[in-house]
Amino acid sequence: MEIQSVGVIGAGQMGNGIAHVMALAGYDVLMTDISEDALKGAIETISSNLDRQVGRGKVSDQDRNAAMDRIKTTTTLIDLGACDLIIEAATERETVKQAIFDELLPHLTPTTILTSNTSSISITRLASRTDRPEKFMGFHFMNPVPVMQLVELIRGIATDEETYDACRRVVERLGKTSAAAEDFPAFIVNRILMPMINEAVYTLYEGVGSVKSIDSSMKLGANHPMGPLELADFIGLDTCLAIMNVLHDGLADTKYRPCPLLTKYVEAGWLGRKSGRGFYDYR
Ligand code: CAA
Repeated sequence: MEIQSVGVIGAGQMGNGIAHVMALAGYDVLMTDISEDALKGAIETISSNLDRQVGRGKVSDQDRNAAMDRIKTTTTLIDLGACDLIIEAATERETVKQAIFDELLPHLTPTTILTSNTSSISITRLASRTDRPEKFMGFHFMNPVPVMQLVELIRGIATDEETYDACRRVVERLGKTSAAAEDFPAFIVNRILMPMINEAVYTLYEGVGSVKSIDSSMKLGANHPMGPLELADFIGLDTCLAIMNVLHDGLADTKYRPCPLLTKYVEAGWLGRKSGRGFYDYR
């Protein structure tokens, strides 16, 4: 089956990035969110990120305008029922994702492929509560979506080959590279990345280094484009904590224990860039 239309659930930083790259690759995109303001903000973000790509000579004016025309928005979730492929990119909370799928399922065409951009929640468990575990899988983009080359494709235990192949072809058409990951907590990228970020927070917590020295050590000493604390702010400290909890619960190993300082920042509402304050102050 060839995918033509893509439904994107959630207009946050991942959702709007996914809508952006899908529309640029020629797919008709229907993006949904419960908030009209979030949808308006997402369209503005996509427009300015496309302008940035035009400004750098990466995208032509014509392709930019065509991409913008391909993106439609709705606050009515069930409008996505007829899409060929749905990518859920809502908040990283299982109960939220579950409620979305429960509402959507009765309105889906039988052939619709349902996927989640979850960064760590079990694909097999999410799939098992739907009417189509064989047509369900993980479709995990990296942030910022228009820039990062990788998409992790995660098979649930029941995902069939046709579904996996259809998603792999979509990634190819986006000009990105897919990596196949088995369905274990946090898959590949976050299984490796999050313990490093968590360790950077411990390094701060234990007074081994300051925010600045930790970040510049990893940037200049290990050639990372961003320091781990800057990257944590960029990803969102709530998301980092949620992923550490999935690793800790799912693998039952104390090496994945979230740093108490990370928990404290999240409790304070210091979530990183999106809230104006994290390890750095963005206000
Ligand atoms: N849309 C479009 N283009 C964008 C963009 C966006 N949102 N953000 C950056 N760009 C483009 C810029 O225009 C620029 O383009 P050129 O190469 O043509 O000049 C390029 O990307 C680099 O951007 P900048 O010059 O502004 O800044 P930079 O060189 O500091 O790079 C960065 C910014 C790409 C974010 C870089 O710092 C980086 O790679 N950081 C690490 C990001 C990372 O690790 N992401 C993965 C997070 S983990 C994840 O996402 C998984 C999860 O589940 C949590």
